[in-house]
Amino acid sequence: MTVAYPRKLNNAIGAREILAQVVRDREAHLITLNRYRFNEQRSCKDLTNLIESLNGKDAKLTRDLSRHVADEARHAMWLTDLLVDLGADVGTPPGSSYIEEFERLLDAEAYDPNSNLDDFLISSLAAINVTEKRGCEYFSAHIHALKQAPQTQENAAIRETIERIFPEEAAHVRWGTRLLAEMADKSPEHRRKVETARRRYTAIEQAAYEAGMDFTLGAELRRVNKLLAISETMPLAQRAQYVLERLPQSILAPDLQKTRIDVAQRAWKRDPQAFVERLIPMFFQGLNRDNIPVHKDKRKENLSA
Ligand SMILES: [Fe+2]
Ligand SMILES: [Fe+2]
Repeated sequence: MTVAYPRKLNNAIGAREILAQVVRDREAHLITLNRYRFNEQRSCKDLTNLIESLNGKDAKLTRDLSRHVADEARHAMWLTDLLVDLGADVGTPPGSSYIEEFERLLDAEAYDPNSNLDDFLISSLAAINVTEKRGCEYFSAHIHALKQAPQTQENAAIRETIERIFPEEAAHVRWGTRLLAEMADKSPEHRRKVETARRRYTAIEQAAYEAGMDFTLGAELRRVNKLLAISETMPLAQRAQYVLERLPQSILAPDLQKTRIDVAQRAWKRDPQAFVERLIPMFFQGLNRDNIPVHKDKRKENLSA
């Protein structure tokens, strides 16, 4: 089974590196599992919305999607059982929500199943496909990290749960890829639309993923840059409206502030010295990223001030 994984965070940190760290820290490990649970549960809701939007227009696809909901509900159930058995939190996870940021960046309003069913299906399938790929990347990296981690009873239970979910996620990726290929084969115009949708939702997914990880200085500006990059995959007439509707939240980013405070509080509580030595420099590292539109000399001035 081959799944093409999404781009690494800032082309540097991959899921394997992240998960290798996560499995060493019980608190971070349980929060990660709770995020999986939350995303699995949320995808049931999103797939159900899609079934309702289709309103019986494609019976075969509706059947596939209802099976898909059942799979995701089972994944959420397995993860909830696991977390409750481990005595962990099953509330809404702290910090930025990947799935909410992804939904905020989607251009769902541009497609109506009643006016153009194929356009609606292409955009819906491409959007599902990119998030399923990310899920596979994470579960595969998580299994790999758990193989290297101490073989405790808890780690064994976690690995067993993820190993049950992973092949079903890989099947979801294959399903989406096959349907998009069938859609592309309908006509050259369909092929062009499938390719554009792939590019757009890959950019949207990457932006949503990085938004959840990037809380360092300048993150708001990087979010705006990504918003502009996504809009470049859209027809000219749609671009301005897409960006303007999402710009205020990208700049004000209340979820980003919440993540910053949450990360800072947890790090401070655990180890005040490490907070000063590691977290503060990490926060300022954001200034060194190339994609911040700040003049280089100015950056130096700011850092030495
Ligand atoms: Fe799932
Ligand atoms: Fe899935």
